[in-house]
Amino acid sequence: MDGRDLVRSVRIFGSVRGLRAMRSAWRQRRTDAWGLRPRGPERARVPGQVEGVEPLPGGGIVRFARSELRVSVASGGTVFWGWDGAEPLPSYALAGNPPEPDPRAGLEPDKGGGWRVVSERVTVAVSRNGAVEVRTPGGVVLRRDLPPRWWEPVNGGPARWVQRSEVPADARFFGLGGRASGPRLRSGTYRLWNTDPRGSFAPGDDPLYITMPVQLVVSDAGTHLAFHDNSWDGLVTLREGEEGAGSGHDRPGASEVRVHGGPLRCWVVVGTPARVLHGWTALTGAPAQPPSWALGPQHARWGFGSEQEVRRVVAGYRERDLPLSVLHLDIDHYDRHQVFTVDKERFPDLPGLARELREEGVRLVSIVDPGVKAEPGNPVYESGAAVGPCGAFVRDGRGREVRGVVWPGECVYPDFTDPAVREWWGGLYEERLAQGFSGVWHDMNEPVSFTPFGDMTLPRSARHALEGRGGDHREAHNVYGLAMARAGYEGLRQLRPQERPFLFSRSGWAGMQRYGGTWSGDVSTGWPGLRASLSLVLGLGLCGVPYSGPDVGGFDGSPSPELFLRWFQLGAWLPLFRTHAAIDAGRREPWEFGPEVLEYARAALAERERLRPYFVTLAHLARLTGAPYARPVWWGSPEDRALRDCEDAFLLGDALLVAPVLARGTDRRAVRLPRGRWYDTATGQAYEGPGQVLLDAPMSRIPVLARAGAVIPVRGTGGAGGTGAGAAVGGAGGDGGAVELEVWAPAAGRTGGGLVVRDVGDGWARAEVERYVTRLVDGRVRVERVTSDGAAEVEKRVRVRGMGAG
Ligand code: GLC
Repeated sequence: MDGRDLVRSVRIFGSVRGLRAMRSAWRQRRTDAWGLRPRGPERARVPGQVEGVEPLPGGGIVRFARSELRVSVASGGTVFWGWDGAEPLPSYALAGNPPEPDPRAGLEPDKGGGWRVVSERVTVAVSRNGAVEVRTPGGVVLRRDLPPRWWEPVNGGPARWVQRSEVPADARFFGLGGRASGPRLRSGTYRLWNTDPRGSFAPGDDPLYITMPVQLVVSDAGTHLAFHDNSWDGLVTLREGEEGAGSGHDRPGASEVRVHGGPLRCWVVVGTPARVLHGWTALTGAPAQPPSWALGPQHARWGFGSEQEVRRVVAGYRERDLPLSVLHLDIDHYDRHQVFTVDKERFPDLPGLARELREEGVRLVSIVDPGVKAEPGNPVYESGAAVGPCGAFVRDGRGREVRGVVWPGECVYPDFTDPAVREWWGGLYEERLAQGFSGVWHDMNEPVSFTPFGDMTLPRSARHALEGRGGDHREAHNVYGLAMARAGYEGLRQLRPQERPFLFSRSGWAGMQRYGGTWSGDVSTGWPGLRASLSLVLGLGLCGVPYSGPDVGGFDGSPSPELFLRWFQLGAWLPLFRTHAAIDAGRREPWEFGPEVLEYARAALAERERLRPYFVTLAHLARLTGAPYARPVWWGSPEDRALRDCEDAFLLGDALLVAPVLARGTDRRAVRLPRGRWYDTATGQAYEGPGQVLLDAPMSRIPVLARAGAVIPVRGTGGAGGTGAGAAVGGAGGDGGAVELEVWAPAAGRTGGGLVVRDVGDGWARAEVERYVTRLVDGRVRVERVTSDGAAEVEKRVRVRGMGAG
């Protein structure tokens, strides 16, 4: 904390901001030194022996010598347990009231002096000394939580606790929010503290912007999700198990969750992966469905810098006949980096520009940062100061506004955990809508305050409303981005009730999918960054956040043409397909990498647009079922151990398997197939899974396989969109009439099928889920639409592929 830090901070943030950041870091230290009591001596505690029970619907309370445990099983098989009086509410993760307890389940004596709750889908057994086992109805243990341990400061203050658990020896861990080193989470320690990694990140960097105490565990015995509903700072240590190769000496997998305060409570959802995600999103909320234009190609850059440059870039897409649906404006369009302002010199008529682009089918999306420049005369600062009795901004224990440093300089931070502040903030989006923006991109909401040392965030002693309960930043930090997303989402809904909001946020927590999606943040340009991009999207999907994608091309520096193209080819198959880069990074427009890259990028864009109806279907299904668009390859066959370890491919919905190229100089790659027949969509060649095949991966494309029997809605030839002139920029939305069904021939003697949900616009109309079944009849593929009235053959707008494949 000396001259060297100062030099470093000046180098990172520039001289004025660097000095401010240095001062702010010291101020943060002083604030915490004053506001946080040292923990002092602590007393350790364990539950002790069971003493009695109080049965309640779905379970009851088990009393131990030094604690009590509430256990409840809901009708769908979702389990809740909480120690020391912890109940499901209050919770930032839950979408509403907790699920109804299963009235047929209740506590009953178990062997060894313990108790258990038996329900149709799951059995929970509580041992005499407080271990909790979650078992399948057949009695196989999915998870064994050992008795917890607390440490309580003798002089009062939050108790910290540790919860160790065992899972089967063959289990694999996934989740914990957005992690760069996954999707399979190997043995190691992962922190629960949303963090800006200070510049761009690669697979070794942890934690990142979204951490969640959500573990998805896949084993031969079954799949389960465990959620420790607690937003405090913590550490999760995972250890993959080992099997004793028939010797009977398996070492179980282990998880240790260590948290520095707050309730010790957990939800466990069991079942198939699909059932688990359904149960999880029933608990924490259906994923917001993006408008269909947000499923098209998007382009961003920090530093377009002016209306002319925006026009130049959009014209570049138009002139080359490349589809573009969304263009994003970063902080450089603000007046001196201040949120809810516009630089009138460089963007003299933003609403006019927005109108003009909209006519070409291109929407504008605006970045929104939470930091408000603390300057008299700044209307956002002044209107915030007038909210409620103490203003909208986070204060310290002495009642002074907490100041940090972000892009505009010295900033204050709205306390989004206060409903009145959320309402005020949500109202400010009126200005964004008036400027012509169609959606918002929340950033810097971990929240960030630049500092050359220590945590780049607010002091831990900073005070927060926490919905009226009151508390400090130790509890509020991880839910700050989530609460900001709520403010933005609710504001947009109120301001423009007829349209679904489009919002994605860099930081967040369990439940953030209710308000929107996310993106990778500042992923570093390089092959490891490309790999990290896929890890983040898959991990977040398993935590209930299905809509995300990377900065295609990487955030910093300049990718080689090959790397850019491979990133682009991956991005085209992910829900959020957006090129983006830093102000000092190289260009990311697809024509900046030479004619060959342009040609292949064009093909990827065309395929994305052709598949827009499939993406629309996946968006609807994500909302209805919680299933992420992009899923690990084990999704439908979690019992296949080789698939559990496969991290370089993914399923897009039920129908497609995408095998991106993640390494330099590749023109062929191994692809691991789940069971059943798969067609290489480029060659039509059929392959039988399970197993591994070698497929061509020339620069022109990445391998994509279709499941035999699948029904995939695509844009029909000659329909809206595509790459034809006029529709080139934007692809014109509404594709209802033009949808065709691409059907991949089922294998002989097998049936297939799929669900199709049509685009019903960007409002709130509920679309019908159409169900199709496919089969081979007399050497011909028969496609039937199944309704409650029976099945009827469909012949129009059907295109069969894969017949006669070798
Ligand atoms: C952060 C964001 C990045 C954005 C930049 C400037 O680094 O992650 O996407 O371009 O801030 O706003």
